[in-house]
Amino acid sequence: MPVVSIPSSPPAVSVIVPTYKEGENIPHLIERVAQMRQATGLTLELIFMDDGSEDGSVEAVEAAGLDWVQIVVRSGERGLSAAVIEGFERAKHPILVCMDGDLSHPPEAVPRLVKVLESGQEFAIGSRYIKGGSTDRDWGFWRWLNSRIATALAYPLTRIVDPLSGFFALHKSDFDAAGDLDPVGYKIGLELIVKCGFENVGEVPIHFSDRRWGDSKLTVQEQLNYIRHIRRLYVHRFGNAMYFLQFLAVGASGVLVNLSMLTMLLWIGAPEPAALAGGIATSVVTNFLLNRRFTFSYARDRNPYKQFGGFVIASAAGMTVNFLTAVTMRTMVLPDTQGAIYLAALCGVAAGVTFNFLGNRFVVFRKRHVPGSEIDQDRHNRE
Ligand code: GDD
Ligand code: MN
Repeated sequence: MPVVSIPSSPPAVSVIVPTYKEGENIPHLIERVAQMRQATGLTLELIFMDDGSEDGSVEAVEAAGLDWVQIVVRSGERGLSAAVIEGFERAKHPILVCMDGDLSHPPEAVPRLVKVLESGQEFAIGSRYIKGGSTDRDWGFWRWLNSRIATALAYPLTRIVDPLSGFFALHKSDFDAAGDLDPVGYKIGLELIVKCGFENVGEVPIHFSDRRWGDSKLTVQEQLNYIRHIRRLYVHRFGNAMYFLQFLAVGASGVLVNLSMLTMLLWIGAPEPAALAGGIATSVVTNFLLNRRFTFSYARDRNPYKQFGGFVIASAAGMTVNFLTAVTMRTMVLPDTQGAIYLAALCGVAAGVTFNFLGNRFVVFRKRHVPGSEIDQDRHNRE
């Protein structure tokens, strides 16, 4: 029997554009999207998600007078990611596209993103850094370096070459099933990739143009938010391993603090035992503060004095475990060879640190049972 192929109708696409003070860019963007829409025959709606710019953005959309273009003016807190999420919720078509409102992202590439999804991928992203992609020449060294460092930080989370691009497409059904999204940073694409666990991703090379009108909205504050965002995504992906890694990093910083304090106290003439004790005491305090602030930040709204007490007890218990493990290894487990004492000491350190970590993670800084897990607690902490 001959196989009859039913011609598939062109897919319907909702293009969401977060904007803040892009009044000058909006008419140009509408025009280019309209041209692309006509050329491809895509069923397409364009939604600007504006954060109360009051710079003629609304008027610009009204002036275009197109029934497939609308602008939603949000009130309340500004936020690129929150605006995109709200736009995705409103979208009525099964394919969602997100792009910037300053013409950095070429609307002409939208059909290629859509094609990637149609070919069975879960996520499509416009990429500056793969072969064929490019950026305008006048990206200064610092902006380039900044972008590269930010991209490198995302490497443990995804192998996408340019995961921080704000030009991407996905199926509305996947978005609807995404569950808890945390719009802390401005990298909503990365948030979706990690939280939805997208693995089948297609990268489409694009030319990223510098904006001609208006100013970038990305401040230093946003960059710090990005670090917070990355940290949360690591915790989401790597769970306790991530806490343990942070705990170890704090421990390593404690060694430096201890030795610096020791050196200083000796230098001002303190007797050795006092200098040693001073180094230990200082590092216990800095370790506590850093762990409370960073490693276990979800618990930092609780009584710090109680926590400090618990931290000291856990440390003392850790030291005991360290000692007992080392003695046991030396006397009962390891053969009596040269260097065995060092191996025993290392085993003691490993056991002590692990014990110490578990005590802190699950007792001193335990999580309260809040439905929706730590993201809710983190959010609560920020408020
Ligand atoms: N609704 C809303 N609310 N939109 C915002 C806000 C906000 O608080 N802040 C920025 N936007 C909009 C801008 O108006 C623009 O359309 C888009 O988000 C990107 O902001 P830009 O200020 O142009 O950022 P950029 O050019 O530095 O960042 C771009 O490059 C990154 C990769 O280097 C964006 O494309 C990012 O999405 C991309 O990740
Ligand atoms: Mn831009």
